[in-house]
Amino acid sequence: MLTIEPGNAILGATVTGVDLAHPLSETDFSRVVRALGQYGVLCFPKQPIDAAALRSFSARFGDLQVLSRNAEPGMPEVSILSNVVENGRYIGTPDAGQDWHTDMTYNRIVGFVNVLVAHKVPTRNGKPLGATEFTNTQAAYEDLPADIKTTLANATALHDWNNFHEIMRHKGSKRPPLSEAERRQRPPVSHPVFLTHPISGRKVIYVNPGFAVRINELEPDESRKMLDYLFAHVLQPKYRYAHHWTVGDALIWDHLGTWHCAIADYTPEEYRLMKRCQVLADKVFDPDFLKAMPGAPMRVSQTA
Ligand code: SIN
Repeated sequence: MLTIEPGNAILGATVTGVDLAHPLSETDFSRVVRALGQYGVLCFPKQPIDAAALRSFSARFGDLQVLSRNAEPGMPEVSILSNVVENGRYIGTPDAGQDWHTDMTYNRIVGFVNVLVAHKVPTRNGKPLGATEFTNTQAAYEDLPADIKTTLANATALHDWNNFHEIMRHKGSKRPPLSEAERRQRPPVSHPVFLTHPISGRKVIYVNPGFAVRINELEPDESRKMLDYLFAHVLQPKYRYAHHWTVGDALIWDHLGTWHCAIADYTPEEYRLMKRCQVLADKVFDPDFLKAMPGAPMRVSQTA
């Protein structure tokens, strides 16, 4: 039987009693979706599923983003995130996600869920390295001063894929600049600064340091100050939670109510290997997707 055990932090729960190599029942899937809205980050321990099962499980939540760089052979929806070197080259992206961001806010259809399976986890002196850290943007919204909530109630922000790319390059990443074709493929887009979480019905702060570059309705200086204020607010330790990986963990998290950052505290000789699917929020904002799920009604709302 599927069991969901919340941890004692601001995010995070452990899910047991299911085998992700096989399709979840409608009821179990519905419980997982609700839990995502409530706990943000769900760990399914001891689920060393292969890339095909990872893809099938992930596709229940929505369409999968396809990236041309560093994917599983024959499966462009499954990215490899890894510092493992074979035949003199990395088998995956070695420094994916190593700064605060929310995946896919640079898309017109934003991200809903990430699904990562841990194949190699670096350890030192018996302690796991390469944790993924999260911060809770639902809790952070609630604590914002009333005047900020009012000022930004209908504001929108511009999100640019290239911004995170350049942050990483400034930090020393060897990734090449995005090509003109790649930039044209994903031009900057605007989303509300605050949006209502489709599952929990709570408001979230929907700008993140990786991709949000401008609050459209403010002058450039004011916009920069406001973004810096919001980023510092969300990054306060009281909203944060770190997942320390074990090989075989399948971790899923809700992009709409969190930011995350992969912690680069291991050396090139300490191998980390994750396989990842990125799920778009093409279904979760559709009231029929949530209404069709067994169990009590979920909160349903639109992005803006
Ligand atoms: C990501 O940002 O999607 C990667 C997170 C991780 O590797 O921990």
